[in-house]
Formats: sequence, structure tokens, C-alpha cells
Amino acid sequence: MARILVTGGTGYIGSHTTVELMQQGYDVTIVDNLSNSSIDVLDGIAAITGRKPEFANIDCGNFVDLDNVFNTYHDIVGVIHFAASKAVGESVEKPLLYYRNNIGSLITLLEVMKRHQVQNIVFSSSCTVYGQPDSEHLPVDETAPIQPALSPYGNTKQINEEIIRDEAHTDKDLHATILRYFNPIGAHPSAQIGELPNGVPQNLLPFVTQTAAGLRPELKVFGNDYNTPDGSCIRDYIYVVDLAKAHVKAIDRMLHAADREQVEVFNLGTGNGLSVLELIHDFEEATGVKIPYTIVGRREGDIEQVWAAPKKANEVLGWKADTPIREVLASAWKWEKRIRHIQ
Ligand code: UD1
Repeated sequence: MARILVTGGTGYIGSHTTVELMQQGYDVTIVDNLSNSSIDVLDGIAAITGRKPEFANIDCGNFVDLDNVFNTYHDIVGVIHFAASKAVGESVEKPLLYYRNNIGSLITLLEVMKRHQVQNIVFSSSCTVYGQPDSEHLPVDETAPIQPALSPYGNTKQINEEIIRDEAHTDKDLHATILRYFNPIGAHPSAQIGELPNGVPQNLLPFVTQTAAGLRPELKVFGNDYNTPDGSCIRDYIYVVDLAKAHVKAIDRMLHAADREQVEVFNLGTGNGLSVLELIHDFEEATGVKIPYTIVGRREGDIEQVWAAPKKANEVLGWKADTPIREVLASAWKWEKRIRHIQ
């Protein structure tokens, strides 16, 4: 069977993708330096799939260590590259760390892949590359203009996309699929794996579930004076399991579709925009738990509204994010309750 190397595979999206790959019959080797994830995630994956993925505790910016992994696993046919630092605020404080981690690891990975004639890479990008699209570009498809990045984190996503394009331009054997994620949320329905934020969550749903669990006294809603129907910001929240399945489709396509282009880009979202206040309401309806919140000022750098046009992914990948939002929110709460030992 074909083996996929998953960098950052003990992380949030990486672990869910590993499960879906294994359930579709792929063998998986994870590389992760555990800088923002736990080794216990491997047990969660095994509890779901019945077997542990192979694992190497290495930094994929280290050429020698990564080269060893490719020497050990001769059957790697493709790589999904999740490993990256992802906190927007921290990236503003520590830009060099972000450029070294996120850009250095991609360069090293591409070098090692070339050395071992592994020619397929799926890259984790973000809708952050579109910034705030003009109203005529909402919902956002893949042809919307790329805007100057608002943070070093966002810039690393843009630069990495360019590195992949430049390398593919000269190396015609290299095939790449760039996946631009909207806002991934939720946890595996088994609650064996889920999101494990470090410290105080910056993202909305982990803050909501921690407030529901009583770890935070209240949620702060950043702004209700935006030009949106209820005044709060609008995002496209996509179930992490649906997102994970898109990666399997992307790998299948790279390995089997004759008509594919050398570099392909897909927006991965539901196509539905949801406001912060709507999400809180849906969470309360889905779980029966009240979320105390107050409206505070806008968060610097926030985008007012963005949601995906997922038509290309729907048609070309044959994939659709269709899990109902309340089911998604219930999965996040089930996971939070499990890790906090709440009945
Ligand atoms: C953020 C990043 C984005 C990154 C993504 C990774 C910014 C500007 N964007 O996206 O680049 O790819 O995380 O997951 O930081 N909200 C509250 N209260 C909170 C937390 C969030 O009201 O305590 C609101 C925000 O204002 C926003 C929405 O919830 O309107 C979603 O926020 P968040 O989960 O941080 O995601 P993004 O800002 O979309």
C-alpha cells in the first residue's frame, strides 16, 4: 500500500487527516517535533483506526533527520505538509522564528523529496492570503487577488506558495496541491482527538468551549459594529473531519488523475458565512450550554467578512463539506468535556 508522509501529523488538522488516510487504506508516517502537540495523540489515532501510524520525533527543518526518514520508508509516494507555527500574534512578536520554522522546513522538505524522487506534495495554506476580499470577490474563489499579508504568519503562507510554484516551474516532475483552509473547527466524533490549544485560546471555538467548561468566565466578542447583518464578523467555519477528507481526495487525485495540472489550488470551506453571534447561538442550541459573553472593541487586524466559494473543490476533487454546523459544534463540546473530565 502507498505510504504518505504527514508532517505535523500530531497537530490538530494533521491528526484528523492521518485518521482519514489510514481509514482509506494508506500507510502513514508522521514527523512532528511535538513543539505544539502531544505524543498521546498517537494513542487517540490508534483508538480510532486500530493501528498506530509510524512516528519520528524530528524537526522537518533538519535535513539529516528528514533524509533518514525517507531512507527508512522507501514506499513514501506523497507528502502532506502541515508542520508550521500558526499563532498570528506570536508571529508579530517573533517574525524570525516564524520565517525560519515555516519557510525553512518547506525548503528542506522539498530538497529531501527531490533527493528521494518523491514528487507529490500537498501544502496547508490559508484563506488569510486573500485578506479582506472586495464585495465582488465574495464568496472567494481561487482567482481572487492575493493581498499583502497582515502578519509574518500570513506572509509565510504566501511565500511558501511562491516557493512551491517556483520549484515546480523548473522541476516538471514535482506536483503540488495547495489547499487554502477557511476556519477549521470541531473534533473527531469519537472525541479521541481534537484541538489542544496552547495557553489562552486565540481562536473563537476553543474559547467558546473553554468558557462552556467554566475555564474562562466569559467570551469577548470582538466588535459588533462591522458592516454585517448583526454587526459581528463573518467566517466560513469548516468541520475538521470534512477538511481532513479533502486531503485524502487531494492525494488520490495526485496519484491517479491523468488530467491534473502540475500545481493546483483549492479553497476548502463550506460556502456558508456565519457570524460570531450566530456561532454562539448555534453552540447554545446544539449543546444546551449558555455562553456568557460581552461585546468589546474590534481586534486589530481582523477581517470583517470572508467565506469560500468551494465550487472548484466540489467539482474537481469531488468533495463537499456537508456536516451540519450543530453536529460540528457538538463534537467540539464532546471533546472539551472529555479532556476536562466533565460528565
Ligand atoms: C485567524 C487568523 C488567520 C489564521 C487563523 C488560524 C487573524 C486576523 N487571522 O483567523 O490568519 O489562519 O486564525 O486559525 O488573526 N473572535 C472573538 N472572540 C475571541 C476570538 C475570536 O470574537 O475570543 C472572533 C474574531 O474577531 C473573528 C472570529 O471570532 O471574527 C474568528 O476568529 P479566529 O478563530 O481567531 O479566526 P480568524 O480571525 O478568522
